[in-house]
Order: sequence, then structure tokens, then C-alpha cells
Amino acid sequence: MARYTEESRQRVREATDMADLVGQYTELRRSGAGRITGRCPFHEERTPSLSVDVDRQLFHCFGCEAGGDLFDFVAQREGLDFPAALEFLARRAGIELEREDDSPEAAARRRSRTRQLEALQRAAVFYARHLTRPASPQARDAVEYLRGRGLLEPVCARFQIGYAPPGHETLRAASHRAGFSDEELQGAGLLRLARGGQTPIDRFSDRLMFPVGDQQGRIVGFGARKTVGGRGPKYVNSPASALYRKSQLLYGSHHARAHARRAGAVVAEGNTDVLALRQAGLAPVVAAMGTALTERQLKELARLTKRLWLCFDGDAAGEAATLRGMELAVAQGFSIHVAALPPGQDPADLVASEGADALRQLTDASRSLARFHVERELQRADLSSAEGKDALIDAVRGVFAWLPSSVLREDLIATIARRLEVDARLVAAWLTTETTAADGTDSPLRSRPSPAVDHAPGAARELLLGCLSDPSTASDVLDDRQIAALPTDLHRRAARHIREHRADPTAALPADDHELVAFIAALLAAAPSPAPARLGHESI
Ligand code: GTP
Ligand code: MN
Repeated sequence: MARYTEESRQRVREATDMADLVGQYTELRRSGAGRITGRCPFHEERTPSLSVDVDRQLFHCFGCEAGGDLFDFVAQREGLDFPAALEFLARRAGIELEREDDSPEAAARRRSRTRQLEALQRAAVFYARHLTRPASPQARDAVEYLRGRGLLEPVCARFQIGYAPPGHETLRAASHRAGFSDEELQGAGLLRLARGGQTPIDRFSDRLMFPVGDQQGRIVGFGARKTVGGRGPKYVNSPASALYRKSQLLYGSHHARAHARRAGAVVAEGNTDVLALRQAGLAPVVAAMGTALTERQLKELARLTKRLWLCFDGDAAGEAATLRGMELAVAQGFSIHVAALPPGQDPADLVASEGADALRQLTDASRSLARFHVERELQRADLSSAEGKDALIDAVRGVFAWLPSSVLREDLIATIARRLEVDARLVAAWLTTETTAADGTDSPLRSRPSPAVDHAPGAARELLLGCLSDPSTASDVLDDRQIAALPTDLHRRAARHIREHRADPTAALPADDHELVAFIAALLAAAPSPAPARLGHESI
């Protein structure tokens, strides 16, 4: 989809009062010319550490390091991506956004996309009605089935659970009556061609319907579970399309949005698990819909929260594929706990058989990912022989590759040493020796240095701060060689930006590099005064 024009972005910027915007989320006080402070809306705190630069429309929190411009503020606060944050602020300011490519073809594509979304929205209402007013014996069985699994009406209503009636002409006929064409319905993934024929028929028949929303809560597709007497695979899902991108959707994510930032999120395996957990009172819950979490899904999640609790079947949580996905998450800064269910059980079963409290106890007793992994391997290991002990070391080596220097790390090493009946220093040495795992696979993180031992970013930050508070030094200090030696790409981007915009580092901040905007905002908030932009003229 084409980008919004720079000009409409600018109009939204001009129409937005930063103090007003931030003031909607937290109480603010003036703290100097053009600067206000307040309690940070991104984390719990008593004393205000949020600093807002009203004129430059930047914010930074000294407590949790959140920061950026007005679009980042909305993106982070509302859990939206950049275009959606822009749309949010445009709506708020009553501004019509324009797109760069407003060719007739692009406009037509957008119109058809809008129609498909409408069709999906109507379909969800249609299916939900067939569950609340079951009109066939099969529909009544579906209702029975949900009740049997302990999933009650309020949670089903909240997630708009529905039922696709038997036969293949019901949704199609109803949608035709509402003015939708077969082409539109097919585009929305609601129809399929009858076997061997040209005739479009309802894709979903005699199935429980789980509407899948995108991050803005628009329904973009369905997961359809078979009922007790049903045929075919357990789930039939919407086909991949421009709207339904399986690898970046998380079931339940827009319901989770409101609370996840403060509370973290529970990640479950299946759609029904999301309902069961929600019903048990665990609010932000999402599911990856049958796959290990993808990189795109992690990105979506990171907008909501970086604290995750995996509520998985004990076997599934220990599977190599799951763990590998989680290592990726840890590398991206997620903190992960595991609340492992008894093997073969899922949250809905547990709630049905033992009640919601059992589930809450389970999440209360969750362990960090590292501890879960080590304890699980210890349980499975044969520690009666030297070979078995070596195998155990190999099995947990991956964990110690990403687990930073910490009390937890030492504690786990001590635990292993006790069980192996060897000295802890030996265990520590074996764990950090580079060897190939017995199965020949290598963790993608194994060769990365632990972030805890890398002190360079601190020095680099000082260097950049110095250039901000004394811009005349920037061109000397930040020569190409210096910049190349900075520890991360973000530092290098920031250095180049500061060098090129000495007089006013807030000038020409790139629209698509949010990381850079946040970083510059943080530096400016921390830089000793006088703030460089106040100098007025370039002094060198
Ligand atoms: P219950 O058996 O009712 O507990 O279902 P569940 O929703 O918990 O599903 P399960 O734990 O078996 O699987 C996890 C998720 O994987 C499901 O929610 C679906 O999103 C997906 N899934 C399961 N089976 C299939 C299938 O046959 N096809 C596809 N495409 N996805 C599936
Ligand atoms: Mn399940």
C-alpha cells in the first residue's frame, strides 16, 4: 500500500499539540521553557521521569527509555504501527490523509480492500448470530460443544465466536442480499470454488468460527474449527491474501492491546486456549495459530509488550522449534517465562476440569525460560554415566549462550554442578567452551557476545552527548573513521545525523527510522543545556 505523502504527515504534525496529546494519557507539569514532565504512561512509576519537548514534539522517559516523536508516542501507547499511528492522529485532528501513489489503479485496489473488510465484518456478525440463535441440530451441537469445554457465553461474545451453518450457500446468499459480489467475497476468502467446478460456494461450513483481527481490530480472516461430528482437518483457516497474512497475525492481539503494555502478555498455542485463559482472568492473551512465533509476529508483539508468559503444553514448550523461536525473542530483548501445562493438557481442559484457579496457580508458578529449559533437560538426562553428563552439558549449552551474566546464571550453573557432582567452576568452563552440539546443529546465538560484557555503547553515548552540547566539536570528533568505530549501527546513524545537522539535530529527522528518532530524543533530553537548537544559528 502506498505511503502517505510527506505533506499530509506535516499537516498532522502541525495540527497536533504535543502537550495536549501526551496530556490525554498522563498528568503534566511545566518544567521549563517548552518542556513539560509527568509520570511516564509506559511504565508504573511514582515520580515523573517523562520529559516532553513541546516545540520539537519529542518525548523521552528517563525511567524506561521510551522515546520518540509524536507518531512514536501514539504507536507505542496504542500499540500501532507507524501508518496506523499517523491515521490515528489524522482522525484526531480531522485531517484527510493523502497517499503518494493516488493512481486510479491504487485507488481501485484500496476500494476493493475496503469492501473485503466490510464483507468480513458482516460475515463475523452473520456467524455469531448463528451461534447465539442456533437454527439447526448441528448448530445446537456446536453450542453444546463450547459449553462442554467450559467456554461460556461472555467470553465467546467478546471474541465474537460464531458458527458457520451447514451447507454451502448460506453466507453467500446473505452477502449477495447485502450487495456484495462473488468477486468481493472471494477476495475476502469467504468463498471457494466447488470441487472441479467453477461455482463459488461458502468456504466454511458446519464449523466454529474464530474471527482473526489485525492490530487495529479489523477482522481480516477466520480460523474455523470443526465440531464434534464434523469432517476434514481440525482447522480450516482463511487463505493467505493481502489482508490475511498468517505469519504476522496473532490471534487475540487486538483484545490484548489495551492491557499488555502494563501487564505483559500470555502466549498460548491455540485459539480455544486464548478464550480459556481470558475467561480465567488472564487478560492479555495471544496465540500464534499453530506455528512457532515468527519474526514478524515477534515484531507485532514487541509493540504491545516485551514480557511474555508461555502457557504451553509441557512437551510443546520443550520442543526444539519452540525454544529456537524463543531464543530469537530473547535476543530481541523479550523477557520470557514458561508456565508449562501437564503434557497433553491445554488451558481449556485444565479450566474445565479444575477451575480457573488451577490455571492461575500455574502461571504464578511460572519459571524463567532459562530455568525451565535447564530443569527440563536435567529431568530427562541420564546422569549415571560420564557420557550422559556430557550430553546434558551439550543440551543446555544453547541457554548459556544467550543468558547474560546474572544471579540466575550462577544459580543454574550451581544446580547443574550439584546434580553432576562436579565443581561449579568446571561446569561454567564447559558451558562456555565453543563446541558443536551433539546433533550438529548450532544455535544462531551461540557466537554472539553477551550484551552484559559490552561496555562500549556507554562511551559512544557520551561521545554523542558531547557533540550535542558543544556542536562546534561535532565535525572534528565525528569523522568517518570515528563513526565507523562506533559499536552499533544505531550509534553510527545517530552520529552521521548529528554531524550533518549540527545546528539543529531535530531538523530533518527521518520519517521511517523510529529507532533513530527515539535515540536522538533520548540524547537531547539528557544533553546538558544549552540545548543546541536554542543557539539559533550555526556557530561554526
Ligand atoms: P482444541 O483442540 O479445541 O483445544 O483446539 P486448539 O485451538 O487449542 O488447537 P490446537 O492446540 O490443536 O492447535 C493450535 C492451533 O494450531 C490452533 O488454534 C489452530 O490455529 C492451529 N491448527 C490446529 N490444527 C490445525 C489444522 O488442522 N490446520 C491448520 N491450518 N491450523 C491448525
Ligand atoms: Mn487446545
